[in-house]
Amino acid sequence: MSAAKMSSNREELIQGLNHALNREVSTFLRYMISAAKIKGIVNAPVRDMYAAEVKDEIGHATYLADKIVMLGGNPVLNPDLTPPADDVLEMLKYDIAQEKIDVEGYMKLAEMADREGLAELKLRMEDQAADEASHAEMMTRLLG
Ligand SMILES: [Fe+2]
Ligand SMILES: [Fe+2]
Repeated sequence: MSAAKMSSNREELIQGLNHALNREVSTFLRYMISAAKIKGIVNAPVRDMYAAEVKDEIGHATYLADKIVMLGGNPVLNPDLTPPADDVLEMLKYDIAQEKIDVEGYMKLAEMADREGLAELKLRMEDQAADEASHAEMMTRLLG
């Protein structure tokens, strides 16, 4: 289907999914580098958390890329390559805020999917919102 023939709601949904895809790719790249940068026994649980979350975010990104194509769109990558902070507490504070933005983004995408009658996508967006909320909570616990 050409973009010209697509409804504006569908186009807006695909744009939103592509925005989320870029946020996920930016996140897993940042978390990979965060895990790599963290040293020392005291911060080992934070390093393990970032390493585990890389896999979650890759799963989210993969789902989004597949779904964009199945909806007739084209995934376009333009990730934010800003490196993580050197300080572990600054890393956590920044990422807690980003995870909360992602929760809101996925709840909005769930509503858009619902309006389009896309039940599986709606549920999956809610699921990804729940994953990000859980990430924010784990990070908040580690922040102390
Ligand atoms: Fe994610
Ligand atoms: Fe996350």
